[in-house]
Amino acid sequence: MKEQLAKIKAEALNALESTQAVADLDALRVKYLGKKGELTSLLKQMGALSPEERPRMGALVNEVKANLEAALEGQAKKLEQAAMEARLKLEAVDVTIPGKAPKLGHKHPMYLALDEIKDIFIGMGFTVLDGPEIELAELNFDRLNAEEGHPSRDWSDTFYFSADEKVMLRSQTSPMQVRAMDTMELPIRIIAPGRVYRKDEVDATHSPMFHQVEGMVIDKNVTMADLKGTLNTLAEQLFGKGTVTRFRPHHFPFTEPSCEMDVQCHKCGGAGCPTCKGEGWIEILGAGMIHPRVLEMAGIDPGEWSGWAFGMGLERTAMGRFKISDLRLIFENDVRFLEQF
Ligand code: PHE
Repeated sequence: MKEQLAKIKAEALNALESTQAVADLDALRVKYLGKKGELTSLLKQMGALSPEERPRMGALVNEVKANLEAALEGQAKKLEQAAMEARLKLEAVDVTIPGKAPKLGHKHPMYLALDEIKDIFIGMGFTVLDGPEIELAELNFDRLNAEEGHPSRDWSDTFYFSADEKVMLRSQTSPMQVRAMDTMELPIRIIAPGRVYRKDEVDATHSPMFHQVEGMVIDKNVTMADLKGTLNTLAEQLFGKGTVTRFRPHHFPFTEPSCEMDVQCHKCGGAGCPTCKGEGWIEILGAGMIHPRVLEMAGIDPGEWSGWAFGMGLERTAMGRFKISDLRLIFENDVRFLEQF
């Protein structure tokens, strides 16, 4: 019986040592120490022993049992430790591997042009204003001297929010003139860039949403010469020294006299090409002396104060600044195009 016990012990320890997983240990526990296990059945045979041998044998069996239990425990710890080490190795992060450099975006060419425009006007003492794209028709039209029935108020041109035609997507940045006059102290020098909306079909020169930069000066003894001087300075700083401009008479309800300013075509230098539709000139803004009625409606005395204003198309200006030939490129956001600036 002693030999049997020694054999069981040797076998069990051997089997234990070669286990690879904690689950295998449970099977061994059942096999040797379980109710029907080998040690248990050995204990059952003790009845055949002499009364003197029985306690000695019992002590031996218990010792082997204790040995096996300790060995099981030890092996379990070893296996758990190994599993943990394997997992740590697998999940290790090598912090010395160089990272993937994120692709940095950059400013859209139109906003690059706007930044230049802002810098130029800030340098001349102007303040930059921001205003709502959802605007009252009262400010977009009435306060700018465009009364009921004026063609620009038509449903076919303007996005209204309701049939009473009181609230709309602004069709121009000019209501910012009114907002400035209503809220600021005189004298006023402001520019106000932003989005405007008109019911236009998309083509090489049109879009239902585009950007304008409004500008306005109100002071004492302000004249058309100030307007031309300032806008010529803008053109030269934006498009380069010696840029040729031309002022043509025009009509706006809120300025009198009114004009449009053209710059000589950047593509052909004035000879005529597809970009300028063969004309040699590109119109970039409307302007004029603020109509006395507009000043009066804002509670400003036109006998004491005078002013001028302009509204510039930002897309067109950026196209001239960066020699871009089609308006749609500005809105398509194709990175192959945008990366060039
Ligand atoms: N708001 C006019 C337009 O959209 C431009 C303009 C602004 C003209 C200021 C005169 C003065 O065409």
